[in-house]
Amino acid sequence: MVLSWACTTAIWVMANSLFSSVFSTKFTEKIDEELTLDRLQQNTRRQRVVRIWALCAVALTVGLRLVRPQVPYNHMSGALPFTFFEALRSKSKPDQLGDQDFPLSELIGEEYWEAPHGHFKGWAPGGDDKIDTIGRPEWASEFLPHGFQRWESTLESVYETEEGHEQKPPKNYYKPANDPLRITNLNQNVVEPIARAIKNHNVPINHVFLVMMESARKDIFPIKADSHLHHEILSSYHNPDPAIIQLVNSKLSHLTPIAEQLTGESSGFRSSGNRSEGLWKDTAESGMGGINVNGILTGSSLSFKSAVMNHCGVGPIPVDFMDEVKAEIYQPCIMQVLDLFNQLKGDSTSSTGSRIGINDAQHRNWTSVFLQSITGLYDDQDVLNNQMGFKKAIYSEEISRSSAKHYHPGMEEINYFGYAEREVYPYLKDIVNEAIENKERLFFSHFTSTTHHPWSTPADFHDEQYFAVDGLMSNHEDMNNYLNTVRYVDGWLGDILKVLDDTGIANETLVVLVGDHNFRIPLVFRHPLLPKIQITANATSMSIVPTILDLLVQTGSLDDKDSTAALDLLNEYEGQSLIRPYQATHNGRQAWNFGIINAGGTMLSVGSAAVPYRLILPLAEDFEFVFSNLDSDPDELYPIRGWSAEELIPRVRSRHGEQAAQWVNEAEKVGRWWVAERKRLWNFE
Ligand SMILES: *[C@@H]1O[C@H](CO)[C@@H](O)[C@H](O)[C@H]1NC(C)=O
Ligand SMILES: *[C@@H]1O[C@H](CO)[C@@H](O)[C@H](O)[C@H]1NC(C)=O
Ligand SMILES: *[C@@H]1O[C@H](CO)[C@@H](O)[C@H](O)[C@H]1NC(C)=O
Ligand SMILES: *[C@@H]1O[C@H](CO)[C@@H](O)[C@H](O)[C@H]1NC(C)=O
Repeated sequence: MVLSWACTTAIWVMANSLFSSVFSTKFTEKIDEELTLDRLQQNTRRQRVVRIWALCAVALTVGLRLVRPQVPYNHMSGALPFTFFEALRSKSKPDQLGDQDFPLSELIGEEYWEAPHGHFKGWAPGGDDKIDTIGRPEWASEFLPHGFQRWESTLESVYETEEGHEQKPPKNYYKPANDPLRITNLNQNVVEPIARAIKNHNVPINHVFLVMMESARKDIFPIKADSHLHHEILSSYHNPDPAIIQLVNSKLSHLTPIAEQLTGESSGFRSSGNRSEGLWKDTAESGMGGINVNGILTGSSLSFKSAVMNHCGVGPIPVDFMDEVKAEIYQPCIMQVLDLFNQLKGDSTSSTGSRIGINDAQHRNWTSVFLQSITGLYDDQDVLNNQMGFKKAIYSEEISRSSAKHYHPGMEEINYFGYAEREVYPYLKDIVNEAIENKERLFFSHFTSTTHHPWSTPADFHDEQYFAVDGLMSNHEDMNNYLNTVRYVDGWLGDILKVLDDTGIANETLVVLVGDHNFRIPLVFRHPLLPKIQITANATSMSIVPTILDLLVQTGSLDDKDSTAALDLLNEYEGQSLIRPYQATHNGRQAWNFGIINAGGTMLSVGSAAVPYRLILPLAEDFEFVFSNLDSDPDELYPIRGWSAEELIPRVRSRHGEQAAQWVNEAEKVGRWWVAERKRLWNFE
């Protein structure tokens, strides 16, 4: 204000002379009486020059507006009058929750419709009335657990929940028969090695652990010799001699030994067969250990959005931040499905229908516990966990109380979220022991956190130097710290598995490990009595819930009633089961994959299991379209960019051909449809 006050006179004089010259009149009445003829002429000449310049400026502003590309330069050459009127004009349209027409209509024609049979709900997008699949299934009793609103709503319009308060059924809900993208693989046989193992011996799954690993990328699970990351580490040393390479490789060989055992993938570093001392060793017989899945993409690079996908088999809402906590999740989460199993048992007085050779665990109730060593208050995670149906949750808030069971002086907060994972080790043991004592089946979920920014490790953890050091500075300090946290968490995973060994439940526990925060993520379904097999499926973590349910049914770990319910529910989820051959296409349709990019509402990753392409679709202005072909550019180092689809498609065509260009065209439309469809399913206004 002081500045503008000081400038007022100067600006007035300038503006006055400018407008005077443009309109050839003087706006001021103040005529200088001392004007001589000579000075008058001089002034007229000056005015003419000023007028030419002023007209040029106006022409340039208007001209620029006309010729400049709309995106991303629309903030440029904005002048006050334009910007003002644009602000008045652009009222953003409210989101429509009505049915969106599916863009690839030729693929969903009546000739492709499938009739319902068995537990399969049929497939007839847009043919709601012609194919009646929504009935009340046998397992749907009067009071269903939370998460099953859409089955409740088939009877009454307003109903009472278990807690007694009235609730309206959701306006829109997911109908598998109506989903133009849904491709099922439940009609395929379970892959041979798993089917054989299940047939030959008992593979009980009495407990399920789901470990979501913060910032765990596939390229560190395990780290591999000759990978892009390995080359990056070596290239931080300028012309390293063989001794240095050997030293670095030796350090890297100890980075992810647990991940190597869990995945059955060798890092390729360890020539001497040296194992890291004191770490967990797999007790499974050789050739056993479960399923390692390659090709998995995250559902969202925002952790809690991907948590919703991992636990509930849904696509999160493509808007910024965790609006999911304010909405109803459109599928039952796995904890709620297990609750349903409890209720089905509560109902039945006679549970004699058990098959021979199956242990009595089938008749036990499930409990669900969430545990993490950091705060549960960030982004309303505690609300979300409650909503997803966890019976109990332990966060740093609880363990940091001096009255906490395992509180001890000197508990060290390692980052702004809380403690390192090992602080919850005694709580984990308690949770497992309690479940065993109470004769309960445990669904345990855990979120690792040390691998989050700022990548610090506890004081007593020895940090290694992987990258070169220049003087006192590390070349890649953050990345070096990240690798140290990766090693810390790798050891921690071993601790978790050790608890299972020590408490004697390892052989009856399915451990699901899934990465987060990155697009290529690890996914492992570990069970010591399942054969160790490698599967490639270009899918997302949406497949986790269906795969767990499928495994529970196929291994005979559920009683007849629960199995029937589970088989029925399996047909309600969008994801395919990963213990059956993944169906990348069906009747010309592709199995699309969507990944929401942090913070949620700005970009969407669109891919398909049928092609090696990936499109980053901007959901807001100011972001580019990005295309990559993973066959020719597996590390996505040379993506093709464009400010619009019209700009991107010809570039893709000239580099990767017509088929790729066609795919981008479809991917953009399907991506936008998916975004609108998520908002509809979540009843997000
Ligand atoms: C193997 O382990 C021994 C003992 O821990 C150690 O001295 C040696 O350096 C290790 N060798 C390699 C190649 O890591
Ligand atoms: C199992 O859970 C159901 C529903 O919550 C309940 O009715 C039943 O009594 C429980 N059974 C046991 C043995 O605790
Ligand atoms: C788990 O099963 C394997 C293979 O049958 C067996 O060798 C091992 O002793 C079992 N472990 C426990 C703790 O029962
Ligand atoms: C998965 O994608 C990769 C990379 O695009 C491709 O090479 C591979 O063939 C695909 N696998 C399957 C099973 O579709």
